[in-house]
Amino acid sequence: MTKKKTNPRRPLVAGNWKMHRTASDTRALIQDIVKRVERVAYADLVVCPPFTSLPAAHETLGRHSTLALGAQTMHQAKEGAFTGEISGPMLREFGVRYVILGHSERRQFDNETNEKVAAKAIAAIHYHLRPIVCVGETLSQREANETTAIVESQLRESLTGFPLDQHEELVIAYEPVWAIGTGKVATPAQANEVHERIRKILIQIFGDHGTAIRILYGGSVKPENAPDLMAQPEIDGALVGGASLDARAFFDIIEAVRPARASDHD
Ligand code: PGA
Repeated sequence: MTKKKTNPRRPLVAGNWKMHRTASDTRALIQDIVKRVERVAYADLVVCPPFTSLPAAHETLGRHSTLALGAQTMHQAKEGAFTGEISGPMLREFGVRYVILGHSERRQFDNETNEKVAAKAIAAIHYHLRPIVCVGETLSQREANETTAIVESQLRESLTGFPLDQHEELVIAYEPVWAIGTGKVATPAQANEVHERIRKILIQIFGDHGTAIRILYGGSVKPENAPDLMAQPEIDGALVGGASLDARAFFDIIEAVRPARASDHD
């Protein structure tokens, strides 16, 4: 069995539903997840359904507070002539507390650049939303030994102008693009190495507060590989795509971030 670590940061597991589940399907999935996570007190839990499912998710959750809602992106403006976009205040109206920014699919298909991510992260804070800022290299960048340089520039540029006193609201997700939806997962050591690098940069930006910012791993996280990944000292939780659409698999991943109890040590 994987040895659990003692980590000062509270674990966080977020499910990124991507473009899956209609509003009516959302109700059933939220109910199923809530039933399973009801007693989980050791981690922050988030689900990020599509925009159109947020009202149904919000209504189904009611006063249930174990599971928070997140969105998959947002526009930085409060309102305006931005066809097809959704703003922070619109998300807040449906109880949304987190927002994924700079996901690689949005970087690739919707031109969500570092500069835009930076503007969105600042806006998210302004509207009391916690940004989950995603970074990660492609396969060709990894093979060309550019992982560190790419992740470093994405992180620094995506956090340009971020209010330093809001460090507690910030979450980072490292998602190697080659591991997303491919079934190819980074080894725990590979992932932890990049997380260590991210931690150093966060400390350069935020000083000592950088040690408290959570860094999630994402990319083909499944119940089978989660325990080894989550046991790594610099991995504070997971951003889960495909497996988060299955309540049981999502719960099993959540179990993998349960901190060690005294009785777990021999
Ligand atoms: P995956 O997606 O778990 O399906 O690889 C992760 C993500 O894109 O956030």
